[in-house]
Formats: sequence, C-alpha cells, structure tokens
Amino acid sequence: MKQLVRNVKILGTGSFVPEKIFSNEYLETLVDTSSKWIFENLGIKERRIAGENECTSDLASKAGLMAVEHSGLSLDDIDLIIVATSTSDRIAPSTAAIVQDKMQAYNAVAFDISAVCSGFLFGMSVASQFIAAGVYDNVLVIGADTFSKITDWTKREAVFFGDGAGAAVLSHSNPNEGFLAFRLYTDGRGKWNFTIPAGGSEMPASEKTVKEKLHYFQMNGKAVYEVGTEVLPKAINQVLTDTGLKISDIDLMIPHQPSIKILQKTAEIIGLPFEKVMTNMDKYANTSGGTIPILLDELNRSGRIKKGDIILFAAVGAGWTYGASIIKWS
Ligand SMILES: CC(C)(COP(=O)(O)OP(=O)(O)OC[C@H]1O[C@@H](n2cnc3c(N)ncnc32)[C@H](O)[C@@H]1OP(=O)(O)O)[C@@H](O)C(=O)NCCC(=O)NCCS
Repeated sequence: MKQLVRNVKILGTGSFVPEKIFSNEYLETLVDTSSKWIFENLGIKERRIAGENECTSDLASKAGLMAVEHSGLSLDDIDLIIVATSTSDRIAPSTAAIVQDKMQAYNAVAFDISAVCSGFLFGMSVASQFIAAGVYDNVLVIGADTFSKITDWTKREAVFFGDGAGAAVLSHSNPNEGFLAFRLYTDGRGKWNFTIPAGGSEMPASEKTVKEKLHYFQMNGKAVYEVGTEVLPKAINQVLTDTGLKISDIDLMIPHQPSIKILQKTAEIIGLPFEKVMTNMDKYANTSGGTIPILLDELNRSGRIKKGDIILFAAVGAGWTYGASIIKWS
C-alpha cells in the first residue's frame, strides 16, 4: 500500500432515469392534492417512475456505465463501487454486488452505504478517503433509488419522490484542485421522522405488516422542513470555515432536491443568490440518493460547470443525516 495523501477529483459523470412519467396532473387523479400546490411548495412538475421489472440496480448500473465511459477509464480500472441507496433490490446481497455484475466490473470491490438522501455525499466522502490514502485509484460512486416501489399511491406523500440514478468516477488529482472539504453528520434522535417500518429484523414481513401498509415510507414533512433549513446552513458554514472560503467564492451550489422552499430558505440564510443554486426537481422530484449526481451530470454535460469553479454540495436526509462538501472543479 502506498503511503500518501492525495487530492481527489471527479473524472466523469453519468445518470439514468426511467422513461415513465407521472405528472402532477396525473397524481391529482390518485390522491387528494393539487398540481399548483405541488409546484408552488415543492418545485415539482413531474417525476420518473421505474417500470414493473426495473429495479434500483438497473438504473444504477446504467448510470455507472455512463460515468465510467465519460471518465475515459475502462471498467477494469475501477477499484471500488459504492452504491448509496435506501431502496436496495433485496435485503441481501448488497445492491453494489448486483451492480458490479450488471456492469461486469469484476476488478472492483463493491458495497452499499445507507444514508438515504445524503447517501451520495457520504459515498463521495468514503471514496475520497480510499483515494487520498492511496488504497484505491479509481472509485465509482452511484446514488440510486426507486422510491416508487415503497410509496403508498393512495396517500398525499406520494407527491414528493421520483426514481433515478446518478454516478461519478472519483480519482486522484493534482494538489490545489478537487475536493477541498467534507463534513458529514448524523443525529439518530431524528430516526423516525422518515422511515419504512417493516421488512427488516425489527418487524419482519407478515400478513399484518402488508395489510397495515408498513412497507411504505412514512414521513414527517414538517420536521423535514424545520430540520433541513437548520442543518443545511450549519454544514455549509462549517465547510466554508474549513476551507477559508466566503459564500461569495461559491460559483455553483449542487444541493440535494428535497423541496424548492427548503433550498430557497437555505440560500437566504447562507447569503447565496438563488441563481447560483442549481435545481432539477421540476423534472425528477426528489430521487433521494440520485438527486446530486443526476444534477451534477446534467450540469457537467451541458458545459455549465467550468474548470476552476468552486462548487458546493449539500444534502439532508433521514436518520437524520446531513453534510456539505466543496470541490474546485478540474
Ligand atoms: C410538505 C410541506 C410543504 C407541508 O407544509 P406544512 O405547513 O409543514 O404542513 P401542513 O400539513 O400544515 O400543510 C400546509 C398546507 O398544505 C396542504 N398540503 C400538505 N400536503 C399536501 C399535498 N401533498 N398536496 C396538497 N396539499 C397539501 C395542507 O392541506 C395544508 O393546507 P391548508 O393550509 O389549506 O390547510 C412542508 O412540510 C415541507 O416542505 N416539508 C419538506 C418535505 C420534504 O422535503 N420531503 C422530502 C425530503 S425527505
């Protein structure tokens, strides 16, 4: 093993969303909601929904293959695959093992991490430690979720999420570029504010759990708003302090996409003009682990991100989990 501390950059990105679209207008026919309310409060117009035979690893492996191709590396160059998901194909094995097989990236060790909507940020941080230490050279991080599979389509909460996957290949870089800071946090006191009660060891699947709809997600929307607008600014201010940068140094923010109002409030608190806050929840809603890498891939491929840009990532999710990171794009 090499003994070094290396800088880490993003070498390539990819993303994949399913074809099927559920518009707000269509949801009006399923649950007691209004298209106008969804757009005004959450910023969402439509979301993508996986097909009956399409699962998280299908979206994840397609996004992963795109990211590897975009990076210019070969599949054999990938040393590690990290899949951040909270809608794994099965409880065992890991979705990462299934993705490795679907991608035929057999040189890579592969494992999942579970941090719900903060998963991709946590995954990039884990990947960076391996690369900085010289343990691995090239790590594929994928954020992928299919919340449509754990949604009760008779409840109002059905409006929040969509399905999708994004990916990035992380590799070593020159000094003074790449990731400048990561801060991750967990506060387990908030653990029941977003949860899927049944199907695990605490409450195994039974006739009762199915009847009582305990395999669907349950969310305390008010708590998500209150906590989100408190912890996102906290994490962001910490990475600014860590790097010695000012908020005016940030060229772009690529945040998780929980709701437009959470992002507007966060931008107001940290003093970032909202034009610098990137969003795509209008097209995809909240794809949980997929939000940051899908948006990153869109911005990267459209040329919106320029060499030297200082980019801020931030996310909050169930657990609670949250964090922020700053990268100098190269
Ligand atoms: C969802 C959210 C907008 C609700 O606002 P709130 O003020 O906290 O909640 P309330 O239950 O008091 O609802 C406020 C109004 O919105 C309406 N409303 C709530 N959910 C609705 C839905 N899905 N569709 C239509 N209207 C809805 C309520 O009926 C209520 O209307 P009223 O003022 O006419 O009585 C807010 O909590 C939020 O943005 N939370 C973040 C959730 C999130 O981001 N989740 C995804 C990440 S995990």
